[in-house]
This record gives sequence, C-alpha cells and structure tokens, in this order.
Amino acid sequence: MKKPIHLGLIGCGGIVQNTHARAYRSLTETVKVTALADVVTENLQKVGELFNVPAENRYTAYQEMLANAEIDAVTIATPHSLHAAQVIESANAGMAIISEKPMATTLEEADKILEAVDHGGVPYTVVHNYLFTAGMQSAMAQLDELGEPHFGRSVGMGLKPMDFSADHPTPAFAWRASKAKGGGCIIDTSYHEIYAVCALMQSPVRYVEARVQTLRFDIDVDDIAMLLCEHQSGAITTVSGAWCVPATDSGWCEVHAENGSLRVLHRQNARDALRRFSRTEGWKQLALPDLDEEGIKDASGHVGYFTATFNALAAGTALPVSAGKAYHNLAIIEAARKATTARRAIEIPQS
Ligand SMILES: NC(=O)c1ccc[n+]([C@@H]2O[C@H](COP(=O)([O-])OP(=O)(O)OC[C@H]3O[C@@H](n4cnc5c(N)ncnc54)[C@H](O)[C@@H]3O)[C@@H](O)[C@H]2O)c1
Repeated sequence: MKKPIHLGLIGCGGIVQNTHARAYRSLTETVKVTALADVVTENLQKVGELFNVPAENRYTAYQEMLANAEIDAVTIATPHSLHAAQVIESANAGMAIISEKPMATTLEEADKILEAVDHGGVPYTVVHNYLFTAGMQSAMAQLDELGEPHFGRSVGMGLKPMDFSADHPTPAFAWRASKAKGGGCIIDTSYHEIYAVCALMQSPVRYVEARVQTLRFDIDVDDIAMLLCEHQSGAITTVSGAWCVPATDSGWCEVHAENGSLRVLHRQNARDALRRFSRTEGWKQLALPDLDEEGIKDASGHVGYFTATFNALAAGTALPVSAGKAYHNLAIIEAARKATTARRAIEIPQS
C-alpha cells in the first residue's frame, strides 16, 4: 500500500477545527496530518490532540515547520493577508499547497504566487468547496442538457453582530473586519457566490460593474457587494453579497438557459438543495443521491473537495480547482472594487 501524504497545517483555527478536520478524518488512507503551525498555542493543542500530532511537531512559527517537519504538502488556513507569503515560502520549500480562499488579497500578490509555484514546480490549488456540495455536483452534471446559459444570479447575505469591528474579541471576526488583514464581504463571503455561479455559467467573466461599499458598520472594509457581470459568451450574471442584511433564505445560485433553469441552495439540509425548471413541468425539487437520514451530506463541500484534491495529488493528476480558476475569481473581485471607484465597467483581460 502507498504511504499516505504527510500533511502540515498552517493555521489551526475555526475552519480547520470545524470542517477540514472532518475531511482529513475521512481520508486516513490518503492523508495523515503530521505537523501543525499556529501562533495561538490553544489552537495548536486542540488540533494536535485531534490528530495525535507529537508535541515536537507543533510549531508556533510556520517557517520552522517548513524547514524541519517531514511533510509533503501543506494546507494554509489563515487570515487572507498572510496567504501570499505562506504560499510562496511553502512553494520554495517544495511543498504541494492547498490554500484556503482567496488565493491572495490582490492580483499583484497572486502573480508572485504563480511565479513561485511555477519556479518550485509544486502542485497548488485553492479551496472552492461549494462546487463539491451535493446540490452543485448534481447541477453541474446537468449543464450539458440545459444548453446555452443566458442569465445567472447568486446571493449570499447575512447580518454580522452589531459590535462587528476590527477590535472584536473573537479573532475570526476581527480580522475579517480589517483591511490590513485582507477582510471584507466580497473577498470573504461573496467569493463563494462568484465561483459557484461562474461554474454554472461555464464562461469566464469579461466585464464587471459593481458597488462594493461600507454602508452599515464602522469598519474599513466593505459590508456590501453588488456585482453585474458580463461573460465572454455574452450572458449576464448578478452577484449580491452582504454582511448587513438579515438573510431570508440560505445562499443560493441560479442558471437560466436554453432548455430550462437550475437553482442550488447552499444549505445544511440538502433535501431541497436543487430545483429545476422546465416549461412543461415548472419548478420541481430534484432528489439528491447519498444523503443521510437528516438529509445531510458534506454540507460545505469540503470533504468532496479534499477527497478529489488528495486523490489527484496521490495520483499525480491535475487538481480539481486550478490556480487559473482562483486567479479569475480574484480578478473579478479586484475589477468590482475598481468599478466602484471608477463608476464604470472594468474589463478583465482574458488569458
Ligand atoms: N471555504 C470555506 O467555506 C471557508 C470557511 C471559513 C473560512 N475559510 C477560510 O479559512 C481561512 C481561515 O479562516 P478561519 O475562519 O478558520 O479563521 P480563524 O481566525 O478561526 O483561524 C485562523 C487561524 O490562523 C492562525 N494564524 C494567524 N496568524 C498565523 C501565522 N502567522 N501563522 C500560523 N497561523 C496563524 C490563527 O491563530 C488562527 O488559528 C481563511 O482564508 C478563510 O477565508 C474558508
């Protein structure tokens, strides 16, 4: 039997403890968490205990982990402003790299990442987990039948607490509310809505008009993001994201095409996560395969994402989410910010 991939974690916070851990536990033949790095020792201890990582392999400086631990790959799950440096140093150390979204905070940083990854000849991917939920997987399998899309829309709205600020006592809130840490609604939350609807539209975005603004909270990052995108195919998509609007529904995305429409709801219980419209039958709920008794299967899509990614790493085949896809998502976000200040559509150069 082949030895599992030895994995080091850079960042052991909320998403690792609540979600990534579940994925690693379901993949014991393919991957073994053998080293950890986090600046907060409580988080090192919690995750160290989850995976029985020996004390000497728990590092407070990720650079020491990269230099000393016997690892083949890293997962990076830290505040956004740290991703670029951590990816570049990991690439220089010869690691395969799985980075949480976003790739970086700017395209300038993203260009440096591509250079380092190319120079190091290492596999690199960014977590686009929504693509792996039961609803999205089933929707994507129906796109051929649906024909040419003409319109898409994607919504992810919620209400952060009233004291949401960069001084918030919960670190995961505080860095998301800070520009210096790479926070903001569009890059943190709407990030998912953008790649999910783009996957349904099957055509890269060419022009972006948008308002990415701070309307409600006393923070130096956006709390609302409204985008109008034109795809290379000529189709149009809207993306609505907010931290200052109470949700009336879970996040969702839709594609409307020649032969019908699909609506995917990103929700914990996946029983009615997918609906399809046809002229003959109207809107109908579609049954999804392999849900458990409560209608749940990998609600965030992380298990599916990590399974596909580690299987590809082990086999040496192409990773399911390419650097190009993550770069394009960041290019849409950067264009939306520019469109807000320029008050006009911004063109995204096609690669
Ligand atoms: N894909 C998804 O659905 C999803 C969901 C939530 C979060 N995320 C992403 O995961 C990442 C982390 O988010 P989170 O919610 O876990 O945040 P968090 O604040 O809970 O965790 C971040 C962790 O990084 C650690 N850290 C900070 N500086 C560090 C450094 N220099 N070296 C090592 N560790 C350091 C912190 O101590 C903390 O443990 C972000 O990129 C976020 O966008 C993705």
